Amino acid sequence: MGKLLGTYPLFGLTLRTATVRSATWEGLADQEGFVRTELINMLVELARGRVGMVIPGYLYVSRDGRGLPWQTGVWSDAHIEGLRRMVEAVHKQGSVIAAQIAHAGGRTRPNLIGDKRPVAPSPVEGFSFGDTPMEMTISDIHNIIDAFGDAARRVKDAGFDALQLHAGHGYILSQFLSPLFNMRDDGYGGTAEKRRRFVIEVYERVQRAAGGSFPVFIKINSTDGMAGGITVEEALETVKDLSSRGLAAVEVSGGLAGSDDNRPGRKGISVPSEEAYFQEAAYEFKKNLNIPVILVGGIKSYEIAEDMLAGGKADLVSFSRALICEPHLIKRWQEGDTRRARCISCNLCLKEGLTGNGIACVANKKSKDGDAA
Ligand SMILES: Cc1cc2nc3c(=O)[nH]c(=O)nc-3n(C[C@H](O)[C@H](O)[C@H](O)COP(=O)(O)O)c2cc1C
Repeated sequence: MGKLLGTYPLFGLTLRTATVRSATWEGLADQEGFVRTELINMLVELARGRVGMVIPGYLYVSRDGRGLPWQTGVWSDAHIEGLRRMVEAVHKQGSVIAAQIAHAGGRTRPNLIGDKRPVAPSPVEGFSFGDTPMEMTISDIHNIIDAFGDAARRVKDAGFDALQLHAGHGYILSQFLSPLFNMRDDGYGGTAEKRRRFVIEVYERVQRAAGGSFPVFIKINSTDGMAGGITVEEALETVKDLSSRGLAAVEVSGGLAGSDDNRPGRKGISVPSEEAYFQEAAYEFKKNLNIPVILVGGIKSYEIAEDMLAGGKADLVSFSRALICEPHLIKRWQEGDTRRARCISCNLCLKEGLTGNGIACVANKKSKDGDAA
């Protein structure tokens, strides 16, 4: 047997497989971001399907940081209780569970954040879902760092095993890192080193709030998938700096919601050669770092996933859409049916989530309707 389906030691715990459910917005919280039973049920299915570490969809750290409707929140102490129920339910099925925390920055719409105007490192037009965002003042920066810290304390209180910072896909941490979004000429922009300052300050605050030994890791863009965006070298420098401060692992991703063919979840991955599209970046990270590297992006085939581990490109393999289509994919592979995931990367699962009933695989739905007819 290869490495994918055996146990893997991470964060002082034993993962039942070297697989991760990459954070995936489920669209199943209530209007204020409180956990609903349907959300817990979705995550429990992933644990029953033997995913090693489950990462629920990004949790917004403050009311003005929500990126999508029915997103789960971690912006008040009142959210802890529902999150704790979620953690306990996943633990009961034998998986590790980490919380991804995020702030949307400019990548949101006023109607999602109490009709306020979104804030961002710089007022860059065209990258926001709606209005051009307002440039953050130094006091905005401090308030958002505080919000990340408070969220980290709640994550720890809720019983999560680890915390992941979302520094990819054009949300606030990635906005600061990227030359496409950060035009500042103060201490938070102007050079690569200054652009990474916000991320480092958030990391340090979060680590302090969660306690020194609590595992904090990051999901980061290795490329923005657009000319003028972040480079692998720069992303690697940021992660090197963070790992010198105790970062526990890195998940290598890329793309922006608006980067068309290069978005984080690329469409139409129909043959194995198109899978694992961030593997070269992950390999660079693996060669230059001493922390576990998690690879995400278009992985559907058991053989490709094993190749990534055998070839030293990653330590763990992460899946999002394949597990929306088949929550028990890993179990199926473990039981000997190693056929490729059925997911066709159509991305209609996300559209489906915007209807208000949670993400769902449209192809699955169609075949069920067909069966019933
Ligand atoms: C419906 C949906 C929701 C997503 N939500 C998140 C999220 O909350 N946080 C995140 O880091 N990435 C999110 N992503 C991106 C995925 O985690 C992943 O990086 C991307 O889809 C590529 O992996 P895949 O090919 O296995 O789907 C989402 C993707 C989809 C399709």
